[in-house]
Formats: sequence, C-alpha cells, structure tokens
Amino acid sequence: MFGVEIKGIGISIPNKKLTNFDLEKIMDTSDEWIYQRTGIKDRYIVEDGISTSDLALQASREALRQAKEVKNIDYIIMATNSPDYIVPATSSVLQGKLGISAGTFDVFSGCTAFAYALIVASSMIKSGLAENILLVGAEAISKYLDWQDRTIAVLLGDGAGSFVLSRTEDKNTGILDHNVGSDGTKFDLIYIPAGGTKEPFSEKSLHEKRIYLKMQGREVFKNVVSLIPQEIKKLLNKNNLETNDINLYVFHQANIRIIEAIRDSLKIDSSRIFSNIEKYANTSSASIPIVFYEAFNKGLIKKGDLILFSAFGAGLTWANILWKL
Ligand code: ACO
Repeated sequence: MFGVEIKGIGISIPNKKLTNFDLEKIMDTSDEWIYQRTGIKDRYIVEDGISTSDLALQASREALRQAKEVKNIDYIIMATNSPDYIVPATSSVLQGKLGISAGTFDVFSGCTAFAYALIVASSMIKSGLAENILLVGAEAISKYLDWQDRTIAVLLGDGAGSFVLSRTEDKNTGILDHNVGSDGTKFDLIYIPAGGTKEPFSEKSLHEKRIYLKMQGREVFKNVVSLIPQEIKKLLNKNNLETNDINLYVFHQANIRIIEAIRDSLKIDSSRIFSNIEKYANTSSASIPIVFYEAFNKGLIKKGDLILFSAFGAGLTWANILWKL
C-alpha cells in the first residue's frame, strides 16, 4: 500500500463573465433573488466553439507544469456532465490534445463526479496499479441550459480544475477514508430528459426543451441538508475525529445556504470553510478542484492538514472523503 500526494493543481475559468444583472435582462429574475437564495453574484461561461476539453486542457497544463517532476501519466480520468461528445469519453479527447500517452476514462455522476473520480484514482495509486494520474473536473454545462429557465440557469457556471496525483511511500497521505451513496429513485430531481436511450433526441424533444438540464431545486435542497451532515458526522465518528479537527472543508459549491446549513448542523467553525460560489456559481464537477485550488493559493491549507471533500449532485449521488495533505 502507498499514499497519494497532490503534486500539481490547475484551473481554467472561461473569459465571458455573466453577472446577475446580465441575467435580469434575459429572464424574469433579479440580482437580489439570486444572491439572497444562493450566494451567487457572477458566473463565467464558454464562448461558442469552446468545449469542455478546451477548459480541461488549460487546467491540466497548469497542473502538469507544477508537477514537472512527474514524467509519465498512467491514466487521465475526467469527471464531467457536459462531455464534448456522447462517444467517445472527453478524457480521450483531452489526452489527444495533451499528446501524452495514458489510459483514459470518464466518470459521469452529477456534481459528485470529481469526488467519485478522486476515490477511484486514489485507490489505483494506493494499490500500486498506477503511479501518476491526471484527474480533471471540467464543465461547459452552460451549453445544456435553457437560458429562459430561471429555475436552473441562474445557478450554474463553466470551469475546470485538475489535480496531478502521485504515489508516495508515506501511507498516511491522501485518502484516509470515505463514505458514498446514491438514491436512484430520485434520478429525475436533476436530469436531462431527452437525448439518451430512454428518450432519443427528436424534433419534439427539441421543441419541448427536453434536451436541457431540469432540476427540482427545493427537493434537492431538502434532501441534501438532512443527508450530508449525517453522513459527514458518521465519517468523522468512525475516524475518532471532532468536527473542528478538520483543517478545511472543501464543499461542492451549489448554494451558500446549503453550505451554511451543513456548517450550522455540524457546528463547524466558519474559518474551516472556504467558498467561492459568489464568483463562479455552481461549476458542477469542477467546483471541488476550483475551491481547493483557490484555498491552497490563499495559504489556507498546508502539508499535513486534514481536508474533508464533500459533494452531492444528480443521481442523487453523494460522497465525503477524508484526506491528509
Ligand atoms: N429568480 C426569481 N424567482 C425565482 C427564480 C429565479 N431565478 N427561481 C425560482 N423563483 C421563484 C419560484 O418560482 C418561487 O415562486 P413562488 O413562491 O411564487 O412559487 C420562489 O422563487 C421560491 O422558489 P423555491 O424553488 O422555493 O426557492 P428556494 O428557496 O428553494 O431556492 C434554489 C431555489 C436556489 C434552486 C434552491 O432550492 C437550491 O439551491 N436547491 C439545490 C440546488 C442544488 O444543489 N442542485 C444540485 C446541483 S445541480 C447539478 O448537479 C448539475
């Protein structure tokens, strides 16, 4: 058994900024409603012609530059819900653009995808199957939005974040424990009804806007604020840890009120949470690596710290990971 070290990190944020005031001009919403209900002010979206793999490429180049001593990458694993194509995996497109030889596969499980992919990548490295893995969370999710649908369009943004993960002899580094789950009976709380095998793409689905992401936000909210604190508590108890033994909680950025509800329920000291939802909105599977990157670059975390990654999303899926830097 080995440990897992984060050797390089990188992010990519598109150039085009959309403020709440910009959204007021295209749909029936307001800056006040969005900010009070979600904590979001701005989001960035890709311009025409830019896809998920382009964002992933930029973030990955930065992470690989930082991890310059890493000479070979065994796998590229991409967490995304907005692939360049339905077939093949976007990790393959990214691999072609990077021009490095590696095995490639995608993880496609809502906003939890990066956390699931981190568990898989860590297991491969810990077991000795792989030495170095490029892990990417990337989304051009704005392309799946109906820009007239205020129930979801105001919440999401595009972006990417990459980790270079490497084997280390220190077994006590990297993933220490985790818990995960899914409730597939609630698959339609966040989903794209048409375009898959259940309801293939048709003129009717286009006309009825069933090719866009739909969400029953209030139901998701209710499910998450009761479930996530319980699951985090279980993970902490199992590892004989108190809430404030964790140096930093890296939460999926879906809604500041969700993060605050988890904080209040677990009595987490606010200094142990970093959030950037105000700037980027919910970037789905890119949110965790983007939060981690900014927290690290602000000096909020250092080698030896305990991190708790926590994510939830479409499925419904969720994952909590206890990590030692
Ligand atoms: N602007 C203005 N008014 C709006 C908007 C909007 N953008 N959206 C909804 N409203 C209205 C509703 O129509 C409703 O009006 P009514 O009272 O007249 O019926 C009112 O605002 C309240 O709507 P609610 O849905 O009850 O508002 P709520 O406080 O629940 O906030 C929100 C909605 C922000 C979506 C919240 O429920 C939430 O964040 N849910 C979780 C979302 C999430 O975490 N998703 C998972 C990740 S997404 C992914 O995996 C891709």
